[in-house]
Amino acid sequence: MLMTMLYATGGALVLAALFLRLRTRLDLSLAKHRSLAGHARMARRVASLVPFYDYDEDRFFRSDDAPEDIAARRRAAFARLSEVWRQRFGQTIAVTREAAAGISDLQFTAAYRVPFQYSRVVRENLPTGSFLESSSGVTVTDLDGNVFYDLTGSYGVNLFGHDFYKDCIDRGAERVRDLGPVLGAYHPAVAYNVARLREISGLDEVSFHMSGTEAVMQAVRLARYHTKRSHLVRFCGAYHGWWGDVQPGIGNPSPERDTFTLADMSERTLRVLRTRRDIACVLVNPLQALHPNAAAPADSALVDSGRQAGFDRQAYTDWLKQLRTVCDERRIVLIFDEVFVGFRLAPGGAREYFGVQPDLVTYGKTLGGGLPVGVLCGRGALMKRYRADRPVDVCFARGTFNAHPYVMGAMCEFLHRLESPEIQDLYRDLDRIWNDRAHALNDRLLAADLPVRVENLSSIWTVCYTRPSRYNWMLQYYLRAEGFALSWVGTGRLIFSLNFTDADFNAVADRFVAACEAMRRDGWWWADPVSTNRSIRRRLLREMWAHRRFLNSARPALALTRRDPPSRVSPPPVRSAEHPGHPSRQVLEQVGPDQLSRDAT
Ligand SMILES: Cc1ncc(COP(=O)(O)O)c(C=O)c1O
Repeated sequence: MLMTMLYATGGALVLAALFLRLRTRLDLSLAKHRSLAGHARMARRVASLVPFYDYDEDRFFRSDDAPEDIAARRRAAFARLSEVWRQRFGQTIAVTREAAAGISDLQFTAAYRVPFQYSRVVRENLPTGSFLESSSGVTVTDLDGNVFYDLTGSYGVNLFGHDFYKDCIDRGAERVRDLGPVLGAYHPAVAYNVARLREISGLDEVSFHMSGTEAVMQAVRLARYHTKRSHLVRFCGAYHGWWGDVQPGIGNPSPERDTFTLADMSERTLRVLRTRRDIACVLVNPLQALHPNAAAPADSALVDSGRQAGFDRQAYTDWLKQLRTVCDERRIVLIFDEVFVGFRLAPGGAREYFGVQPDLVTYGKTLGGGLPVGVLCGRGALMKRYRADRPVDVCFARGTFNAHPYVMGAMCEFLHRLESPEIQDLYRDLDRIWNDRAHALNDRLLAADLPVRVENLSSIWTVCYTRPSRYNWMLQYYLRAEGFALSWVGTGRLIFSLNFTDADFNAVADRFVAACEAMRRDGWWWADPVSTNRSIRRRLLREMWAHRRFLNSARPALALTRRDPPSRVSPPPVRSAEHPGHPSRQVLEQVGPDQLSRDAT
């Protein structure tokens, strides 16, 4: 009898434990975002099934089954654009072509500016020059002397205008010249930087790193060390640098191990945080507020008009507050990764802007005053790299170039100038200014019945498309022709520096509308009235399936042959102060807003 009772109790306990495990596992599955980006392993598997194929010149213009007259219009426009490219950007393209053979990054970005099916024809006819000669104000100038409004934002670094950073670097170098590049010991600029960063972050201690990726690595390592838990939570679509643990899925050949990718702004995610015991930290990139659960928008993924974005400050603030509460309850480390948005939303970063205090915060990009940097700020207890009671249990972090005097000098300038009235002025009414600008442009796009609108998180913008089309990615070429410098993600991300004046912005808006109008005139936005984003995607799947069947019987071997050594080149000349090579505004005026239309007609 006693034995039976014992067996029954034991069985019930085992069942209860099994049920709990199942429940926890189910909660985790339910907290993943429904998209492929929410399922890293599956995404990598699906990616490995996508076969390469591309469109020949005929299909290129009719991949949406446009009638022949529309295809002819597109073909003629494409040829005109190609001629504009040849005439206007010849030198820059020639240098880029030659250099690309030895720069793997250039080969990669060139291949992924547009959806891969169109990439070869675009590369052959509209190659993008990747070299610049100079910068000034809100513009950059290429090797042919073309001046562009710079909407690349230098990956987000350029917050106050290029001249600001040139000054930071020059003045910073003067500050540290006597010491020079001595490493290990610190220049006194470090003490100033630490004091300012403590004020700005509201946190106790600071560590210096060489890039944003490394600052994030150290934040996560410390969180694991102090909590003695294994897993980090990141949100679907969020970028935190290219370290494997924060970039599971496509782009990272290793399988994810200790990372949970959960849905952003989701009650189910909060439930997972409340119930699991293996979560060391939650990593938040506040840029996701513009497109929760979606990866950084890139034109290479613009196969239809499904790109969505929209910033709701109140909703995101509420979400961060809920995260803060649950992290406090469960002793999970809350990390804000402000490498991108730090200083852009407010002088005190996202923490000030949303009014939520993280335990650790990472900065980078603009904070280096134009030089490479990563910074981690944190609560004292979390930043400790050793345990007083266990002397051999340490959390190691170093880096040869950490706190490099020249970087510290430029950062010192940056932080010092951040307090100046001119810079503080740029923050005044920041959101209103950039929201008004976005609204004004959207009003013009709507009034002209163009299928385009912009969404923004302050000065970070993305372009969305309102009617189904397979050719939205062409807009980046019309924008380039109108005098815009765009990053390799094209219309996915336009980053403004805060020194764009109203006059600058109005010129940008004129050119933007002109580019859209030219694109419409040239027939790229023709659409079958019954086509939808869904029907476009279904059709793409069918194409891929057809090519996959073919591919299985013709798999190419990996070539590991060596190439010929490159020819010798000379270093570029050193420019004197009298001939700094900065473009004048007149050149910009010469490449007027209507240039493309003139060239194109
Ligand atoms: C939010 C965020 N974290 C980390 C990184 C990585 O920084 P870095 O490119 O300096 O390594 C980036 C870069 O874009 C970023 O946007």
